[in-house]
Formats: sequence, C-alpha cells, structure tokens
Amino acid sequence: MASGPDTATLERVLEAAGWAPSAQNAQPWSWHVDPNGLHLDADWSRRLGDSPFDRCDVLLACGAVLDHCAIALDAAGWATRIHRFPGGTVLDPRLDPVRLATFETIESAPMPAARELADVIHRRRSDRRHYASAALPETTVETLLVRAARRGVELGVVPAARWHRDDTGQVHLHYGDHAETSAAPADGVLLALGTEDDSDAARLRAGEAASRVLLSATAMGLASCPLTEPLRPARDRVALACEVFDGQRHAQMLIRIGTQPADVPGVSAVVRRSVAETTTWAVDGGQRRTR
Ligand SMILES: Cc1cc2nc3c(=O)[nH]c(=O)nc-3n(C[C@H](O)[C@H](O)[C@H](O)COP(=O)(O)O)c2cc1C
Repeated sequence: MASGPDTATLERVLEAAGWAPSAQNAQPWSWHVDPNGLHLDADWSRRLGDSPFDRCDVLLACGAVLDHCAIALDAAGWATRIHRFPGGTVLDPRLDPVRLATFETIESAPMPAARELADVIHRRRSDRRHYASAALPETTVETLLVRAARRGVELGVVPAARWHRDDTGQVHLHYGDHAETSAAPADGVLLALGTEDDSDAARLRAGEAASRVLLSATAMGLASCPLTEPLRPARDRVALACEVFDGQRHAQMLIRIGTQPADVPGVSAVVRRSVAETTTWAVDGGQRRTR
C-alpha cells in the first residue's frame, strides 16, 4: 500500500481479522493488498451450499471479518474509512471474487474502544454450552443495542418462551409449525439482529454489527454464540421479525448471550486459515502473488 500500514502490520491485522466467526468456520473471504489499499472479496467457492440462505451466511461472515479488520487496524494506529461495494451492489456469485469493501487508512492514535475490542479478538469463542443467566443487566443490553445501531442494525430480544437450546447446543425457535411456547429453563438471552431492508448491503452491515456485539460481549466477560440456522425456515424468520421488530425489520442473525460461572473451562479455539492462504499481495507491474 502506498501510504498505509507496512506489510508486517498488515499481516498482524489480517491474522487477527481471521478470527472472525463464520458459519461452520467456512471463512468465505479473501484479501487483496495493492497500492490502492486493502480490499475484501467474498470467496463464493467457500459457501456451504447453493441456497440463498448459504449466500446470506457468506455476506454475514464477510461483514464480521470486515469489522474485525477495522478494529484491528484502528488498534494498530490506523483509522479507517470503508468503501462498501466499490464495484456496485449487484453481486454475481458466478464471478469470483466479488469485491465487498476497500479500506482507506490514515495514521491516527488508537481509540480506547478499539483497543478494548481488539484485545479480545483472540479470546472470543462461539460457546454453545448452557449459560447460567436468564437475563442481562439493562445497561448491558443498552450498550450492545447502541453499538449495533451505529452500524444501522437494530437489536431485539427474542421472548424466552419462543426458543430453547437443546442438549447439542443448538437453538430452536417456537414459531410456525412449532408454535408451542417453551417451558425449558432459561439459557441466556437471545438477541435478533434486524435490518431495514433485505439486501446484500444490509447483510454485510448485519455481519459488521454482529462482530461489534460479540466482541463487546466478550470484553464484558459474557459468553456468546452467533446463529443463523434457526432462521433457515422462512416462516420462522418472518414470524420472529413480526414479533420482535413489529414487522419493520428483516431478521438476519441471532446471538445468544449469557454468563458462565468463573470456574467453567474455556472453549477451545477452532483453527483458521493463515494470512498466506487468505491474502494476495500486488507486486511490481500489477502482478498478483500469494505470499
Ligand atoms: C453467519 C454465521 C452463522 C452461524 N450459524 C451458526 C449456527 O446456526 N449454529 C452454531 O452453532 N454456530 C453458528 N455460527 C458460529 C460458527 O460455527 C463459528 O463462528 C465457527 O465455527 C468458528 O468458531 P468460533 O466462533 O468459536 O471462532 C455461525 C456464525 C456465523 C458468522
């Protein structure tokens, strides 16, 4: 990059960004560095299936890695301006790669909030175990709500009677064909992320907001797990949006948040692709090579 972070800084930043969550740890993204900056592409070849739902999972994960990257850059002393969809918002998965964002960077003292979130990137895990709490302090929910709202995403609480967690750690919604309310013991709080429209741009934003919420929760000492599988049945997704968002938002993702007793061991990290595997670097003459 002409006047941006040096290669060693970028490698550290991209290593940290790679710890972003993605459905089944697919990590459906790639990075490209050239004299114009740092670029994020969707890697459609890593999507989990051919359904529209799998496509959404790619965009949500790319939003999360985009935000993790912005946080890591900020903490490394580089403020960012992000240009989303620099080539337009019509994305064709048959074209590989598809550019989702380009970073503009300017040297700047790290913001304390970014430092706090960057510090927990390597500690955050999807924790599918039982959570002790049935509720979160109002101020906690308020903080998460504000952080999501800054990315244009609304957070709503799914009523406890509308979901339960099974023994394998998966969450089931109680709408539509499964409309009976749950009498299962509370297992944390289930938050829904809602966007004004149901576009690719909205999904990328929802992924960015999810990253903020998950890292903020980790920084507060809370356990969390992002989920989209329960939203796969279209009827459940709509019914949840009607109840939680008064039908005014599209539900993109769920996040279960709660507390773990201090003596409970942590969850093991899931292996990530290396920076060399996810990144191409432009060299003289505009050629690309993988480092
Ligand atoms: C868009 C998206 C959808 C996800 N959906 C689910 C899900 O339905 N169920 C689940 O248990 N985990 C889900 N996850 C969590 C991933 O499985 C998890 O992020 C990945 O395995 C990496 O593990 P880590 O988050 O502990 O680093 C989802 C994550 C993302 C970003």
